[in-house]
Amino acid sequence: MESIENHLFNIYFQEESYTKLNEYLQTKQPSSIFIMVDENTMDHCYPVFMPELKTESRIEVIAIDPGEEHKSIETCSGVWSAMVELGIDRNSLVINLGGGVITDLGGFVASTIKRGVDFIHVPTSLLGMVDAAIGGKNGVDLGPLKNQIGVIVSPIMTLIDTRFLRTLDEQQLVNGSIEMFKHGLIADKAYWNDMINAGKNYYNDIFDHLIFQSAVIKNDVVVNDPTEKGARKALNYGHTAGHAIESFCLTQPDQPDVLHGEAVAAGILVESFLSTRYTGLSPLEYDSIKNWYKGLGFTFSFTDRDIQDMIQLMAHDKKNVNGEIRFVLLSSIGDFVTDQKVENEDIVLAFHELATV
Ligand SMILES: NC(=O)c1ccc[n+]([C@@H]2O[C@H](COP(=O)([O-])OP(=O)(O)OC[C@H]3O[C@@H](n4cnc5c(N)ncnc54)[C@H](O)[C@@H]3O)[C@@H](O)[C@H]2O)c1
Ligand SMILES: [Zn+2]
Repeated sequence: MESIENHLFNIYFQEESYTKLNEYLQTKQPSSIFIMVDENTMDHCYPVFMPELKTESRIEVIAIDPGEEHKSIETCSGVWSAMVELGIDRNSLVINLGGGVITDLGGFVASTIKRGVDFIHVPTSLLGMVDAAIGGKNGVDLGPLKNQIGVIVSPIMTLIDTRFLRTLDEQQLVNGSIEMFKHGLIADKAYWNDMINAGKNYYNDIFDHLIFQSAVIKNDVVVNDPTEKGARKALNYGHTAGHAIESFCLTQPDQPDVLHGEAVAAGILVESFLSTRYTGLSPLEYDSIKNWYKGLGFTFSFTDRDIQDMIQLMAHDKKNVNGEIRFVLLSSIGDFVTDQKVENEDIVLAFHELATV
């Protein structure tokens, strides 16, 4: 597979990852290497990664507890202290070996300690490979508020080795794949069809190539719009409604725990329904999206009252203009329109679509 190299990012795939990593280590000769893991990636990914690393530098491993609840300033504080005690300096290197929690937190810790040391992302979850480890956003949550503290700093390189996916559970694989489908919807109809045809076969060359293409799509969008003024907004497709569903379900004891990707999949159906009303998405393409959603087997169903609560949540989205909810919508699969204002009554109808599949 080719690499992705430009003024912002270097993303390498499979064996080439380790060639580039070892070349870099040879040239830089870091004073020490800090490998950030969580307990799961320590068990499953560290033993795969370490034999690939060729270096004489001192290696320290910092393991944190897994889970979003640990993507916090409190965890950072512990990691900063450990790094200082272990003698980190400006010529050290941080390698973030984990899912999006590790790359977000590890990138933030590395960018801030000693006013910034170099870091490399080695994403081990599917979501990390196609989304979180690409784009340069790093940060942590502030209490219940997601991603409130952070910086935009690009890693020296992102290394994608799909062998790591073999220990990821299926729910996490589906979770990551939702963002891949989203990439098809906003950028490339052929890619959408290829994703549909791939089904749930995650361990083969075809899927490896789909991961590569997804990284290319995210990279292209970010490189063309690093400040999120235009095209980068498209990466939020399905996320305006999806974030509201995610937040709403968290506050409802009777709603099941929902992963980000699951809420975004429902958000994609909601926003695709709106796209048929506002931006000319054809009924045929809408059916393709609806069939995909149906195949996922999620069972979201909301009352009018729930939907009103979610409309309130959407009204607080930081991407709104003058307090009005703005959506990214599709004009067709592969083409989007940003900043669409829609009527509340249509949002209600769109959420009710979820119960019809
Ligand atoms: N920076 C960005 O642009 C960006 C984009 C999207 C998401 N994110 C962030 O990413 C995070 C979600 O990422 P995630 O879904 O990877 O979550 P995660 O890092 O919590 O990983 C999910 C679970 O899988 C485990 N895991 C990871 N890799 C494994 C492997 N190879 N084998 C076995 N277990 C493994 C983890 O320990 C964890 O329990 C969120 O915090 C989100 O805000 C950031
Ligand atoms: Zn997302």
